[in-house]
Amino acid sequence: MAQQIVIDPVTRIEGHAKITITLDDGGHVSDARFHVTEFRGFEKFCEGRPFREMPGITARICGICPVSHLLASAKAGDKILAVTIPPAASKLRRMMNLGQIIQSHALSFFHLSAPDLILGMDSDPAKRNVFGLIAADAELARRGIRLRQFGQEIIEHLGGKKIHPSWSDPGGVRNSLSNESIEAIKKKLPEAKETARIAVDVYKKLMDNFKSEAHIFGNFPSLFMGLVGEDGKWEHYDGTIRFVDSMGNIIADGLNPADYKQYIGEAVESWSYLKFPYYLPMGYPGGIYRVGPLARLNICSEIGTPEADKELKEFRALESGVRSVSSSFHYHYARLIEIIAALEKIEEYLSDPDISSKRLKAKAGINSLEGIAASEAPRGTLFHDYKVDDAGLIQKVNLIIATGQNNLAMNRTIEQIARHFIHSHGPKIAEGMLNRVEAGIRAYDPCLSCSTHAFGKMPMEIALIDKSGNLIDRKSR
Ligand code: MG
Ligand code: NI
Repeated sequence: MAQQIVIDPVTRIEGHAKITITLDDGGHVSDARFHVTEFRGFEKFCEGRPFREMPGITARICGICPVSHLLASAKAGDKILAVTIPPAASKLRRMMNLGQIIQSHALSFFHLSAPDLILGMDSDPAKRNVFGLIAADAELARRGIRLRQFGQEIIEHLGGKKIHPSWSDPGGVRNSLSNESIEAIKKKLPEAKETARIAVDVYKKLMDNFKSEAHIFGNFPSLFMGLVGEDGKWEHYDGTIRFVDSMGNIIADGLNPADYKQYIGEAVESWSYLKFPYYLPMGYPGGIYRVGPLARLNICSEIGTPEADKELKEFRALESGVRSVSSSFHYHYARLIEIIAALEKIEEYLSDPDISSKRLKAKAGINSLEGIAASEAPRGTLFHDYKVDDAGLIQKVNLIIATGQNNLAMNRTIEQIARHFIHSHGPKIAEGMLNRVEAGIRAYDPCLSCSTHAFGKMPMEIALIDKSGNLIDRKSR
């Protein structure tokens, strides 16, 4: 008899989602679906608005990644003006993005995922959270909270407490950094770097305890995509698109983000409001690709800063003989290496006179009726695509968000984990399985707020349902 296992909602990810695991007549997993059930309709809502307002409007899509939308939107606006923004403005935008990467990755690692890693996947769910982490390792938890604050403070020094919607807009940025701000950031940098080093060491020590998880948490061949800079270097703000495969072969390189429709398809499934982007030349769903920290480390030639490159070398030795790391469990590892990279890059900018420059904006009118740009959000590549009329009013918007691009991979991850557990424990809800399905999704750090409008977290409820809809088993917490 075919059965369904429903996990609703998934805890400790941003937003609200539901999981269905369908078993076939033989009791094996036939399908796993990560339903994103609410729809925000932001693209439609933007029509008719002046393109210059788009950074401020799209920044409100999400309380978690406003900076990512602010930057991608301003970059799309630069294209409509057809200008090259002043070098100081792009350095300051980069600095804000680095602050965003630090704060978002620190939130993901210390607040959301470290409880699983430090307390164990099978520990009491009531304690497996940031409070449990504080009880287990107060120093690490406190350091994590301060590291996230450091990232947030960089954003505030640039954009103001509530991030002024026009801090970054078409043509450049509103203000540079004051000497006081530069000094304040410099003062806190050493502790932030120390915390990042401690965290990556903690992860490397713990890694051996999670061999089984690393084996089943989204460990499959796929493409990896993201922006790379000159000579294929790690990039987070500009550059060109590169795809590599699980063996580390470059599949496509030097692609212009503005041409994304030539290489990214967006499939739609009736059971989810989140689209399923795929690499067009390989078809759907064969063109599955992953974005975000794991992808950025897999696609780049090097990071370009000493400590991060040293860690990258070790990271690449994880899977012997293969350059790409294919297990999504190591998104955590990649995130920590990116925190180190972001801190080192910020350190470089702090001694660059451009960051206190007053030449910050290129002023121009509407010189193109289309503006398409991509930037790297903490979770992966973010595309903003606008069409405007002669008055600069938005006619059409397409946003391709990071979480959408990991949609196929998240579904396959759930399937892989479920298959492993149901194979060894039979068609039932094992506590260990639920925790791992949750943690498997959390490895991607999905931001469902970017595609849905749900906030808040509810207790988790799991139901095992047979083909006819009868409840066989139910667990809630
Ligand atoms: Mg879209
Ligand atoms: Ni978001």
